[in-house]
Amino acid sequence: METTLIILKPDAVQRGLMGRILTRFEDKGLQIVGAKLTMIAPSLAQTHYEAHQSKPFYPGLVRFMTSSPVLILAVRGVGAITIARNLMGATFGSKAAPGTIRGDLGVSNSFNLIHGSDSPEAAQRELRLFFAPGEVLDFPRAADAWVYDSAGGKPE
Ligand code: RTP
Ligand code: MG
Repeated sequence: METTLIILKPDAVQRGLMGRILTRFEDKGLQIVGAKLTMIAPSLAQTHYEAHQSKPFYPGLVRFMTSSPVLILAVRGVGAITIARNLMGATFGSKAAPGTIRGDLGVSNSFNLIHGSDSPEAAQRELRLFFAPGEVLDFPRAADAWVYDSAGGKPE
């Protein structure tokens, strides 16, 4: 099982799209194991996106991410990191494929609704940045018996 860090960005919260986006993850069969509506402090946004520090869009990105509340999520499942990135679609709303969150719900390249960790290392790092110990929950989900085929001993 993998756990990934998802952020519904300020535009998703302000446009009233939280429920519809969350539903896509639940419909897919992923489990929500952490959730927090919060304002991101500038220092945290800077650290989270520090890989982009040298990019021209970095200051605007930090301003955007700290401009209004966001919904921070921890999302779990087999292959959850890649599955979440595929559900999100390409970075730019103008280019993201129909059927994806970014492709269906937005047109902007910077106001692109959602963040998702892009690797296991990033997921581990980002979950620690946004959730305190104990805030990501570990609980059995009744539906797992039908979401996954566990006949072979592990969920597939
Ligand atoms: P994210 O990190 O937010 O999940 O997005 P991503 O992996 O798809 O894209 P990334 O390259 O990591 O870029 C991070 C965020 O910066 C904004 N951005 N704006 N105007 C631009 O050229 C530009 N490029 C990137 C987007 O908000 C993007 O999600
Ligand atoms: Mg990224």
